[in-house]
Amino acid sequence: MIYMDNGATSYPKPPEVAETLIDAMANYCANPGRSGHFMAARTAHEIYKTRLAIAYLFHIDDAGQIIFTKNCTEGLNIALQGILKEGDHVITSSMEHNSVVRPLHMLKAKGVDTHFVQCDASGCIDPAKIKEAINDKTRMIVITAASNVTGTKMPLAEIGRIALRNGILFLVDAAQGAGHMDLDVKKNHIDILAAPGHKGLLGPQGTGFLYIRKGIETTPLMMGGTGSYSDQAQQPADFPEGYEAGTVNAPGIIALGAAIRMINKIGVDVIEEYERRLTEKLQKGLESIPQVVLYGPQDTHEKTAVIAMNIADLDCEEVAGILNDSYGIAVRAGFHCSGMAHKTIGTENRGCVRICPGFYTGEKDIESVIAAVKRIAAEDAR
Ligand code: ALA
Repeated sequence: MIYMDNGATSYPKPPEVAETLIDAMANYCANPGRSGHFMAARTAHEIYKTRLAIAYLFHIDDAGQIIFTKNCTEGLNIALQGILKEGDHVITSSMEHNSVVRPLHMLKAKGVDTHFVQCDASGCIDPAKIKEAINDKTRMIVITAASNVTGTKMPLAEIGRIALRNGILFLVDAAQGAGHMDLDVKKNHIDILAAPGHKGLLGPQGTGFLYIRKGIETTPLMMGGTGSYSDQAQQPADFPEGYEAGTVNAPGIIALGAAIRMINKIGVDVIEEYERRLTEKLQKGLESIPQVVLYGPQDTHEKTAVIAMNIADLDCEEVAGILNDSYGIAVRAGFHCSGMAHKTIGTENRGCVRICPGFYTGEKDIESVIAAVKRIAAEDAR
């Protein structure tokens, strides 16, 4: 199979991910932070190494402020539901994923007001519109690092500066950015960062993290055992364990650490440029097919490795089905859990086909995708 669905989850994973996971499960993986024996201590140490790898990649000073979650959605929910209170005002964009849109919709019933800044048809946001939307109740700006539909990168540094100058919290949804682009929390003035472990970070599914800058008051979503203050009924507020109630996905987190250490060794800038060149080749090839309609920025420097397209009037699910059945090419079609983003780019009535190359995609894979789309378009035109 030619795997072009890296926006949904990355595949394959670096070999050390499976090796590390199996080694942990076979040789030492006990319950970290609970018992004091060697196996539990080794597990806790390996998990700490993953926190350090994340801290290095995202320029986070205090690795203890990183909470492990089961995915990016959980991190976003902890941040939104744990921080926002009745009367607060939040600013976000019309390109957000449902993992931001739905919690904010639910919070509306609790008295949290949301302003959606309209992006243009390529998914680009004008930071001036964010500035205009600020009022004295604005507590947070939440923005995706890059759209999961079009790959459009958001001007994080500029938005972060606006947040900083106005004393507003800046939460970034790094679902499609982490591992694909530089996400320095300091340079971008990011206070809170949520990311999945299984997409660009190349780790196993069931992993993710949330970084919350020290000093930001938040309430955990889940209460339970933390391995600390066990004689007390009240959930401890300590980072990170107060926010990681219950046994964590230790083998997954340890394996995620192996993947991120590999990314750190290669350099995320090198990965970003490699994926951009693949995307450029794919985009140029698809542009040359008259029946193909492309969405999102045409300059590949302004996007991550995501191509959103349709072929003439063909149903996007049908195109994805033909790519799968006749060409062995895996893509995702439909609305990508982002109805508002599709409305923004004008595909709310039909969705689109999303093609996402990744770290393990080769030039030949790109050529095969272009050739397949060309044939589907030609057969439809007959
Ligand atoms: N959010 C993931 C995607 O965009 C699953 O496909």
